[in-house]
Amino acid sequence: MKATALAHPNLALVKYWGKRDDALILPHQSSLSLTLSPLSVRTTVAFGEGNADAVELNGYVAKGSERDRVLRVLDTVRAEAKERSLGPARMVSRGDFPASAGLASSAAGFAALAVAARAAAGLPADPRASSLLARLGSGSACRSVQGGLCEWMRGERPDGSDSYAVQRFDEKHWPELRMVVAIVSRDEKEVKSRDGMKNAVETSPYYPAWVKDAEAEVVRARDYIARKDLQALGDMCERNAWRMHATSLAADPPLCYLMPGTLALIHSLREQRKKGVPVWFTLDAGPNPCILTDAAHEVAAEALARACGATEVVRCVPGGDARLLTEH
Ligand code: DP6
Repeated sequence: MKATALAHPNLALVKYWGKRDDALILPHQSSLSLTLSPLSVRTTVAFGEGNADAVELNGYVAKGSERDRVLRVLDTVRAEAKERSLGPARMVSRGDFPASAGLASSAAGFAALAVAARAAAGLPADPRASSLLARLGSGSACRSVQGGLCEWMRGERPDGSDSYAVQRFDEKHWPELRMVVAIVSRDEKEVKSRDGMKNAVETSPYYPAWVKDAEAEVVRARDYIARKDLQALGDMCERNAWRMHATSLAADPPLCYLMPGTLALIHSLREQRKKGVPVWFTLDAGPNPCILTDAAHEVAAEALARACGATEVVRCVPGGDARLLTEH
């Protein structure tokens, strides 16, 4: 009745930005991401403990919408395992990187939660079921159930049963690929992804154009990854991030996640590329750019990030699947 799982965050190269169904967390478009090691979140779930559900995130008792999202995942598992009447749950989750800094800590957290909760409930290991479950907590979490490069297929069905992530390339496909995470600001972001993307869907005149190109963008990304074409993937990755942010910059009210340090690093990468250094950025809904590069240039990428004011830098490699750590 108790299990612990570890999952890595993922960073989208083709981003998810906008829902067609807010309640079920169904996206307007497919997306594609790289799972990142060594960053990770560990989540323990125990059913049948205490009198009420208890949810602890990074040492704090979760409240409000954070708690609701966790309970939604736990309730779904309880419904699936109904004949076992699991009872109240105790969940403890701890990550080794800053929450709400635009680094998809919630993605790793909900993926670990999905895998741990299913195991604690005695349900069989099933990446598809875990991905569908993780999606109910946070959309991008469905891409952290498996390692390597995963694609969240938008799906067509109104009930969301075909909207989950599959692994397109495992973590051994391109072992030299690197993502260098540069922390230029540790502040909590002002507008969470959930609200930022809703604002873009509802008010940005650029939003339809963003959706129109999304499926083709995923196909292009798959092709570049299959051929290990870093130049093509890097160019696409930057363009995709710019276009996502453009939808929000043009929204009402406008939303700008970029900080001075973000822009300094983006410009510095561009200068380096002119000198032949293979470095590109991507940027989620926060100020911290991540640098796409290869093993031969990760040290140089870290130096560039620090020169632009990054206080912390984490060099990431393609990560593996979410996995159970203990069985009880
Ligand atoms: C910019 O998955 O955090 O990181 O589904 O509302 O929980 P919810 O949003 P979330 O949004 C992630 C947005 C992004 C792009 C991406 O990861 O694809």
